[in-house]
Amino acid sequence: MNIGKVMLSSPFVVAPMAGMTDTAFRRLVKRHGGCGLVVTEMVSSEGLVRGIDRTLEYAEYTEEERPVSIQIFGGDPDKMAAAAQIVEGMGADIVDVNMGCPVPKIAKHHAGCSLMKEPEHAARVVSAMTKAVRIPVTVKMRAGWNDRSRNAPELAKMIEDAGAAAVAVHGRTAEQSYSGLADWDLVSRIAADLTIPVLGSGDCIEPEQVVERMHQGVRGVLVGRGVLRNPWILAQAADLAAGRPPRQVTLQERGQFLLDYIGLLLNERVDERAGFRHVAPGTDAPPAPAQGRERWVINKIRALCSWYSKGLDGGSHLRARVNTASTLSELRDIIDAFFFRLPAGSDSINKPAAESRSEETARA
Ligand SMILES: Cc1cc2nc3c(=O)[nH]c(=O)nc-3n(C[C@H](O)[C@H](O)[C@H](O)COP(=O)(O)O)c2cc1C
Repeated sequence: MNIGKVMLSSPFVVAPMAGMTDTAFRRLVKRHGGCGLVVTEMVSSEGLVRGIDRTLEYAEYTEEERPVSIQIFGGDPDKMAAAAQIVEGMGADIVDVNMGCPVPKIAKHHAGCSLMKEPEHAARVVSAMTKAVRIPVTVKMRAGWNDRSRNAPELAKMIEDAGAAAVAVHGRTAEQSYSGLADWDLVSRIAADLTIPVLGSGDCIEPEQVVERMHQGVRGVLVGRGVLRNPWILAQAADLAAGRPPRQVTLQERGQFLLDYIGLLLNERVDERAGFRHVAPGTDAPPAPAQGRERWVINKIRALCSWYSKGLDGGSHLRARVNTASTLSELRDIIDAFFFRLPAGSDSINKPAAESRSEETARA
């Protein structure tokens, strides 16, 4: 599958998720295979243009993540074009526009999903960007703002005409937020209408569902919460798509993922060789970790565990324990006890599926 001239080795994509899909997490998912593209957390166009350190950090990525798409949000065509140029200057493969975020803080500034309420303006944003950069410009949208305005099909066509190289659609409205189910029929209709690739997003929790959705006319599937629960889901979907049984993941491997994530987060920017990290032009990545790094890492693990623990036997127990950890060594001990010290005779393959019935009792 191609997006513009960018070749994706797999149609399965790590969806952008604010606070979650940082460079460390993306690297780990990518290492497991099956992943054709990663998308960064959404990054403010305003922050990029003004050179705000925190914003620039969100956009950083490393070479092993390629191809990488940096998602930006904003509503001003000139600023979005300037931000796209910064993204291009960082060497990213794709720049993606967020037209799906329903959060008022974002949406009230004519950004995120509120762009869907102003389709002509949204198309102007895309047009300004496609004129400003040579890398592909893509858009991620929802079904519409609300049930009275499910205008993704019309907007997607306008976006295509404005020069976008691909469109991803999460089949819920902004008002729905995450309630109900994603409307994949709508996604299919858009895919049938457009010449550029259309990717779908929503409710793929099992690898079988990821593969199944490929039969709905889309050229790719973005997986969000499913990757947070099971970072192997794209690799397992690739196994299934190739006619192989999906790889089994042991409980120890799941524990190791968390330890590796802690390791990468702790060492972000520390001892990295020159050129390892792609940063905005003119930015020098500080060599030492920021103050309060341990607390930041603990918070990151807590955030991930609220998803990662779902469906694991004893997952709610793990979640509660992780939320009480106040140091990294405590956190490592909790991970060690949960994932590596199995009672004799227990099954070390633990597949996060539907919430386990025995969850509350298994590890109490
Ligand atoms: C914690 C979280 C953060 C998200 N952040 C973003 C974001 O920054 N940009 C975006 O376009 N979508 C964002 N999304 C939406 C996802 O990319 C995806 O479209 C949505 O979750 C539906 O897919 P899923 O059912 O596979 O999770 C976010 C979703 C979650 C759960």
